[in-house]
Amino acid sequence: MRLDKFFSHLKYGSRRDMKTFFKAEVVKVNGNRITDPAYHIEPGHDDITLNEVAVFYEDPVHLVIHKPPGYLSANRDAIHPCVVELVNPPYDRFDYAIAGRLDLDAEGLMVLTTDGPLAHRITSPNSHLPKTYAVTLEKPFKHDKTLLKGVSVKDGKGRPYMAKALAIEHRDDQVIITIDEGKFHQVKRMFEATGHTVVRLVRLRIGNLALGDLAPGEHRPFKEAELYD
Ligand code: URA
Repeated sequence: MRLDKFFSHLKYGSRRDMKTFFKAEVVKVNGNRITDPAYHIEPGHDDITLNEVAVFYEDPVHLVIHKPPGYLSANRDAIHPCVVELVNPPYDRFDYAIAGRLDLDAEGLMVLTTDGPLAHRITSPNSHLPKTYAVTLEKPFKHDKTLLKGVSVKDGKGRPYMAKALAIEHRDDQVIITIDEGKFHQVKRMFEATGHTVVRLVRLRIGNLALGDLAPGEHRPFKEAELYD
């Protein structure tokens, strides 16, 4: 990869800014000062410093983040704060695809990844990756069997489909439900179909990847194998 592409990719400036960037900043590759924007490097292999500080680079980057309520599952928005804005250095220099959006008022585990095909594999209904949610309802829930058998709900386009829970447990006053799809408002609509209103929705797990003790707004990197192990 060209050195100017590497730095613009990491949002140090546009490709056009790079001419002045290499004059103004001290960029070293394997200890040698480089001022030629076209210099060829191997990201992740060559040792690259900017003003004597190592430049962080990983490819791909996968983050598990604890989305707080009130954050939009998006990169940027004019009205609401967005989950991607919660990403701290050194991970904030990458462009992320969001795998498995959560509603504005929902919370919990979300995956951000620089690997678009992985995001697709996580969200695709064909991948049947189980997703587990802790649900707080407005009144006690006694319809486990109904949801395990399946209820007809509408998808984002208003088309009916059968939504089935793979597992249901009760933990204190919460219902823990596992599904293996992720259609628009699916969990809320499944509970609505039994006459209940979801008052709090927290995603605990996607595949084998768990929220664990990540605090709201926190994130950590993970390896793809953690999803399936
Ligand atoms: N189901 C919902 O209803 N909302 C979410 O955010 C996720 C799953």
